Amino acid sequence: MSNYQNYHMTPEEFRRHGRQVVDWIADYYESIESMPVLSQSKPGQTRASLPAHPPEDGETFEAILADVGDIILPGVTHWQSPNFFAFFPANASGPAILGELLSAGLGVQGMLWATSPACTELETHMLDWLVEMLGLPEKFLSTGSGGGVIQDSASSAALCALLAARERATGLASNEQGCDGSLVAYTSNQAHSSIEKAVKIAGLGRQNLRLVDVDDRWAMRPDLLAAQIKNDQQAGRVPFFAAATVGTTSSNGLDPLPEIGNICSANDIWLHVDAAMAGTAALCPEFRWIQKGLELADSYCFNPHKWMFTNFDCDCFYVADRRTLIQALSILPEYLRNQATESGAVIDYRDWHIPLGRRFRSLKLWFVIRYYGVEGLRNHIRRHIALARMFADWVAADDRFELAMPPPLNLVCFRHRGGDEINQQLINRLNRGGDIYLTHTSLHDRLTLRFCIGQTGTEQRHVVQAWHRIKGEAEALEKNL
Ligand SMILES: Cc1ncc(COP(=O)(O)O)c(C=O)c1O
Repeated sequence: MSNYQNYHMTPEEFRRHGRQVVDWIADYYESIESMPVLSQSKPGQTRASLPAHPPEDGETFEAILADVGDIILPGVTHWQSPNFFAFFPANASGPAILGELLSAGLGVQGMLWATSPACTELETHMLDWLVEMLGLPEKFLSTGSGGGVIQDSASSAALCALLAARERATGLASNEQGCDGSLVAYTSNQAHSSIEKAVKIAGLGRQNLRLVDVDDRWAMRPDLLAAQIKNDQQAGRVPFFAAATVGTTSSNGLDPLPEIGNICSANDIWLHVDAAMAGTAALCPEFRWIQKGLELADSYCFNPHKWMFTNFDCDCFYVADRRTLIQALSILPEYLRNQATESGAVIDYRDWHIPLGRRFRSLKLWFVIRYYGVEGLRNHIRRHIALARMFADWVAADDRFELAMPPPLNLVCFRHRGGDEINQQLINRLNRGGDIYLTHTSLHDRLTLRFCIGQTGTEQRHVVQAWHRIKGEAEALEKNL
């Protein structure tokens, strides 16, 4: 043993390199505006820069960190850039990143209450705080029959809701025998693709998902939902699950929850509400109208990892009746048995989602909520929405452009009046330029630009600059018409 070589990083080395990494991240944020928002990397470029084989001997930390700059950074699209207006945001913040670091440092695996009581209890507490912060229905509080849990994503939340609904509808028989093809699920044709994916994974069959049409604001039409349910019932099928969206991905359409909720209640259908991005707006009392009718839902989710300054991954998923969820997902092998679980006095979150293992994700939420305070968070949400309205006013005042609809919150959908070709060229030129990044969708079969404001560092000057760029590229294209 005298020749024993310890390959580990010592606490002293960790202290030194940890500071280097924190400095690296701080420098990154200070210089992020100078980098092309959309990575200009070519397919295969990152891999071609990496050695073909792993190193036999360890390398210095300095060499590794230098390669992050030289090899990795060119292949990064800068989601945290204040000039990122694409998709929906996945924003982050100092307190969230440090909370994440601490979570990695503790290295806790919180599958059971007993494997780290604080991991479970802080999470339960944060999810209850969020009920209060967002003005969610009290039935989602853990102090009643419901409760919340952190999932990796809204996709996983939808799948868990669907599985719980499936077991409720079949009296737990589908877990035992599989599905017989009679169950039918509903969502709008604007819902996120994760609903369709969940239906497929849950073994329900893609053909048993009905995509209900929407109105001119991209919101599900309750009359069509009711008619479709009736059709299915008359054909001997069993309607059991509906997913409504608060803030659809394409256009931020808001489904009418009161009407959909009443239809679901009358037909014993589990209603899941997906507010992945837009849900954060409810921090501000003046935007809580978006979740009117939520008291009729069986489950709900929103992603602090989109718009609440908490880095990916962090989806908050609530159920009104935790017993059903737990019954649907619980399995207790001998090696996980323990006194705390058997006492019935604790929550074991392994029964609330698909994986067994779980990270200490509530730390970053705790850091964010405490560091900003609820008022600090509201301040930024209000600012983003005000900037989106300002941008929409500029679009509306320019004859060459049109709004697809007035923005309900922080997403502006608009297009050049010149048709799909010019809009496609516009977006290509803007994104190639590297100083802003925005994406598109199709609304009424017309190519539409999406401009979403939700990055932590975005200020008015970035939005002003983006509008100048858009107008400038449009002028250049018009000259060639
Ligand atoms: C409305 C909506 N639901 C669900 C999702 C999926 O989110 P996640 O990546 O958390 O699964 C998105 C992603 O943008 C979304 O916009």
